Amino acid sequence: MTDVLDIDDLDPDELDAVLAEAAALKADVAANEPHAVLPERSLAMLFEQPSTRTRVSFEVGMTQLGGHAVFLGKEDIQLGRGEPIKDTARALARYVDAIMARVGDHDDLEALAEYADVPVVNGLSDEAHPAQTLADLLTVREQCGFDAEVAWVGDANNVGASFVVGAAMAGLDVSVATPEAYAFDESVFERAREYGAEPTVTHDPVEAVDDADVVYTDVWVSMADAENPEEKRETFYDGGFQVNEDLLAHGDDPAVMHCLPAHRGEEITDDVIESDAAIVWEQAENRMHAQKGLLVHLLNGD
Ligand code: CP
Ligand code: NVA
Repeated sequence: MTDVLDIDDLDPDELDAVLAEAAALKADVAANEPHAVLPERSLAMLFEQPSTRTRVSFEVGMTQLGGHAVFLGKEDIQLGRGEPIKDTARALARYVDAIMARVGDHDDLEALAEYADVPVVNGLSDEAHPAQTLADLLTVREQCGFDAEVAWVGDANNVGASFVVGAAMAGLDVSVATPEAYAFDESVFERAREYGAEPTVTHDPVEAVDDADVVYTDVWVSMADAENPEEKRETFYDGGFQVNEDLLAHGDDPAVMHCLPAHRGEEITDDVIESDAAIVWEQAENRMHAQKGLLVHLLNGD
């Protein structure tokens, strides 16, 4: 049984298999072909924080696969009144075939995975967002091919960490630009190097964007960020980390990605996100196809 708390809980062959399954399921949707391959299977969806894409894409995805998803907001269940997560895990595992959870603290996900004897999938924690990475890789392959150069520009956050490692696993060239004060932990690059990647790491966004086929950014202040958001925003503005037309002019007509929701006028401008370069809606759609691929892999062993 596999838990997917981060993208490298899959091995590269499994990642390829999930992305291939996702592409096949996406083709089924386009052709209106029924593909109810998870009949009578149930997914618990536990949310400690708000969500639009993760919640709807997992729920609709399970419906299309012939299964069922149960939405559990933290405050609606006994977890919100102090029931330990390890007890929640063991009870839920007696009802459902898999658990997807969005938590503020990655340790809570580890506890869920330890105590639930069904697969646990990370739907975002303070450290990682592997469900997003699956969709991101599917999107990069569709839009730019299998050997694209991708640049992460912005905060060293959950989405970025999983993407850098996942891109390395998928054989993409990766450049990373963060402010010095908000850099990735070296362990992220060590994980990427395990797959033969040698990420370019810089604090200069122009250097990262140079030659990139894809420029990817995310919010400067994440849901789990508590301290000094204004100071943080200022550092990113002053360092030139906003993805705007001026920055993109240093690249070779790159596609632009964002996991959404976006803060227009902060990490990305309105004109960029509304431009033809932006592939953010393809990314958002691919959340559903990619997660369906993952669920079929985890529950049917395909
Ligand atoms: N990208 C993403 O996870 O979006 P939601 O917060 O809307 O789920
Ligand atoms: N980095 C963002 C992603 C939201 C989907 C956050 O954690 O708030």
